[in-house]
Amino acid sequence: MEFYLAPMEGLTTFVYRNTFAKHFGGVTRYFAPFIGSRHMSTRDIRDILPENNENILLIPQILSNKAEDFLAISDTLRSYGYDTVNLNLGCPSGTVVAKHRGAGFLEDPVALDRFLYEIFDKCPMKISIKTRLGIEFLSEWEDLFRIYAKYPLEELIVHPRLQKEYYNGHAHVDAFADAYAFFKEQAVTSPLCYNGDIVSVESYQALLRMCPEINHVMIGRGILRNPILLQLLLRETSSSSLTKEQLRAFHDDLLDGYCRCLSGGDTPVLYKMKDLWTHLSCCFVSPEKYLKKIRKASRLNEYTIEVNRLFREATISEL
Ligand SMILES: Cc1cc2nc3c(=O)[nH]c(=O)nc-3n(C[C@H](O)[C@H](O)[C@H](O)COP(=O)(O)O)c2cc1C
Repeated sequence: MEFYLAPMEGLTTFVYRNTFAKHFGGVTRYFAPFIGSRHMSTRDIRDILPENNENILLIPQILSNKAEDFLAISDTLRSYGYDTVNLNLGCPSGTVVAKHRGAGFLEDPVALDRFLYEIFDKCPMKISIKTRLGIEFLSEWEDLFRIYAKYPLEELIVHPRLQKEYYNGHAHVDAFADAYAFFKEQAVTSPLCYNGDIVSVESYQALLRMCPEINHVMIGRGILRNPILLQLLLRETSSSSLTKEQLRAFHDDLLDGYCRCLSGGDTPVLYKMKDLWTHLSCCFVSPEKYLKKIRKASRLNEYTIEVNRLFREATISEL
C-alpha cells in the first residue's frame, strides 16, 4: 500500500510537509494545495520550490478550467523540475464552483472532455486528476469516468462525495467500488487512488474489505488529527503509541518553521498554528478548554503558555 498526503489549502504547507516527513513519515507522495492562477503568488511559488521540498516527493496541483492557463502553469512547474502535475476537479467551495472550476467543472462533461483533450495533447508532463463523483447525483460518476478512461492518466484520485455534499455525511465507498470495477471492465490501466474519511484502522479495514485490490490511499484529515495514523495502518493495530514527547517535538518544529518563514509578527504564525490545532487537538482527551484558550491567544507568548498547559495537564487519547 502507498499512502499519499492530501492537499489541504492553508494546512499542508511546505513547512507542515517537511516537519511531518521528519517526525513521522510513511507518505510516498505529498500533494501541494492548488495553484489557481497563471500569475503565481510568492506564496504559491515558495510552497512548491524544490529547495523547500527537498526530501519529499511532491506533486503540485492546478485548479483551472482553461487549457491555456493550465498549460502556462504546468510550464512554470516544469521549469522548476517537476514532471507530474495534478488537476483539481474536486474543490466544492461556492466561489470556485461558481467559476466552473474544481468540482464545478464536473457540471459540463463536454467542456471537460475538450479541456482534457487539449491538455493531454499539449502538456509534456504526466497528468493525474483528483475528482469527486459528480455535482448532485451519484449516478453522474459513470459519464465522467467514461471521459477519464479516454486519457492516459498518471493516476485518478477519487474522493467519493458529490460537490453538493462538501465534506458532510460520509464518503460513498460503495460507489467508489463500482467505479473501480468499471475501470477494470474497461481495461483502463491508470491506477485509481481512494481518498476520504480514512481516520482509523477500522475505516481503513472497511475500505480494504470493499476494495481489496486498492493499493493507493490518500489521507488528509486523518493524518492531521493523528500524525501516527499511517504507522497504525501499516501495523494494523489500533493501539496508539503516540507520546507527548513525540507530539511536542513535532509541534515545536512546526512552530519554529512558521516563525522562520512567515513575516508580519505573531499574527500569521498564530493563525497557522490555531488552524492546525483544530485537528491536532484530537490527539488529547477532552482538549476543549485548552483549545479555547489557545484560540484566544493573541501573542506567541500567551499561545506558548496555553500549549504548555495542554501538554502538561491533558492525556494523549487512544487514537
Ligand atoms: C481545509 C481544506 C483544504 C483543502 N484543500 C484542498 C486543495 O487545495 N486541493 C484539493 O485537491 N483538495 C483539497 N481539500 C480536500 C482534501 O484534499 C481531501 O480530498 C478531503 O479532505 C477528503 O479527504 P480526508 O477525508 O482524508 O480528509 C481540502 C480539504 C479541506 C478540509
